[in-house]
Amino acid sequence: MVLRAHAFALIGLDAVPVEVEVHVTTAPKLPTFTIVGLPDKALQEARARIRSAAACAGVPIHESAVLVNLAPAEVRKEGAGFDLPMALAILAGHGKVAAELVDEVAATGELAFDGRLRPVPGVLAVAEAAVRQGLRTLLCPEASAAEAALVPGCNPIGCATLGEAVRILNGEASPRPLRAVPPPAPPVVADLADVRGQPSARRCLEICAAGDHNLLMVGPPGVGKTMLARRLPGILPPLDDPLALLVTRIQSAAGTLEAGSGLVRVPPFRAPHHSATTAALVGGGSRIRPGEVTLATGGVLFLDELPEFRRDALEALRVPLEDGVVRISRVSGSVLLPARFALIAAMNPCPCGSPEPSACTCTRGRIEAYQRKASGPLLDRIDVGVRLGRPDPEVLHADRPEATAQVRERVLAARRRQAVRGVVNGRLPVDRLADLAEPDEEGRRMLQLAARRLLLSPRGVHRVLRVARTIADLAEEDEVRGCHVAEALALRLGSVA
Ligand SMILES: Nc1ncnc2c1ncn2[C@@H]1O[C@H](COP(=O)(O)OP(=O)(O)O)[C@@H](O)[C@H]1O
Ligand SMILES: [Mg+2]
Repeated sequence: MVLRAHAFALIGLDAVPVEVEVHVTTAPKLPTFTIVGLPDKALQEARARIRSAAACAGVPIHESAVLVNLAPAEVRKEGAGFDLPMALAILAGHGKVAAELVDEVAATGELAFDGRLRPVPGVLAVAEAAVRQGLRTLLCPEASAAEAALVPGCNPIGCATLGEAVRILNGEASPRPLRAVPPPAPPVVADLADVRGQPSARRCLEICAAGDHNLLMVGPPGVGKTMLARRLPGILPPLDDPLALLVTRIQSAAGTLEAGSGLVRVPPFRAPHHSATTAALVGGGSRIRPGEVTLATGGVLFLDELPEFRRDALEALRVPLEDGVVRISRVSGSVLLPARFALIAAMNPCPCGSPEPSACTCTRGRIEAYQRKASGPLLDRIDVGVRLGRPDPEVLHADRPEATAQVRERVLAARRRQAVRGVVNGRLPVDRLADLAEPDEEGRRMLQLAARRLLLSPRGVHRVLRVARTIADLAEEDEVRGCHVAEALALRLGSVA
């Protein structure tokens, strides 16, 4: 007899159904355990985990011949989430649980040698796919049940062990109620009041927070670039419903979703080290995994010491910066992942990092190469550039500057104005230029002049307009006027001037 169970393969952020077919011979001449249907290494190793876990659940299967087929055959199956559905079908083959009960539920989870169930990435996507298939009950690790419960129509049953899953299916134990896990502590974000001086950079940070614009900060070491960037999450608004669901799906698929977090409302802040590979930044590797650009979706990607990043890694950021998506292609197929974030970058004016231009020991050629490395691939996508100097020593001991809470109020007010219009300025796709209100006569003249004199590309003009719109929003004005365009133009050129 062929036994069936329902598993799911995670591909990008989505799960696709995989049917587990199991054939068991209980008194064979030769005990075997074979898995076919494009399993990866981790899945092949399920044989050892399932044998051991089954023995701990009181069902020795090492004397049987077990043949497992994962269909459809052409889909590559990865990871350990297939352990539980395979084990359930195999136990059904040994008469320990009714085959029709196993056939009625979806299941996911990794087995430990002692039979405990360990969480796997992507339970949210699995729950969605199961509901789409009409499978409302999902057997899953206890720690993942709350995540699955976020999906309407899904009835997750969290199990601590394989044995418990079998007892629940057999009606010998009742499913435990969904355990309320306390939400994780919100990340601690330092306050903007710590940053002395740097009024222009603070203004830029506020504009970028209000409109999701890309920012480049250039200045000598130790003047507060990193400090400012790390304080940005404090002035960002919480994620709205659709974005919260997307960010939760991303974190679920990446396996970084914290237990008890529910829908993630905190905008992500990703700060990869400059040694990051292209695969780490944009995603991929031998398996299709979300990269930093996807993990930063809905929030901020902070690239500190920008020119230290690998050139190919920076080049790879172009497409996601423009399109808000990234395509990862592998032999096994390609997936499109979201990659919509605000880029915040920081760099020194020259490679030696001297505090003053007069003390710089770099040759002109070296400085140019250093700046080109950062600006080449990205400059056209940077909306706001700002130069930071050393703050006056007196400023360091002056009164405390504005705190995060005050700046945040203004950012939230600007975002509310945008919400009424139905769009956040920085998120507007390029081909929806028409959605941006035309600036007034003076603003238009200025833009045309800039396009001609400064050789601003149409993309550049569009980006300036978006920033001007945000500046008007912060000023609580409906019309984009000449002064808003002027500030936006100045900011665009701020880091290169
Ligand atoms: N504008 C500033 N106001 C207050 N402290 C500052 C400022 N700039 C730098 N510092 C101090 O110097 C340290 C290093 O600043 P950092 O932001 O890392 O500099 P950068 O990234 O520009 O090299 C900070 O932790 C802080 O103690
Ligand atoms: Mg720094």
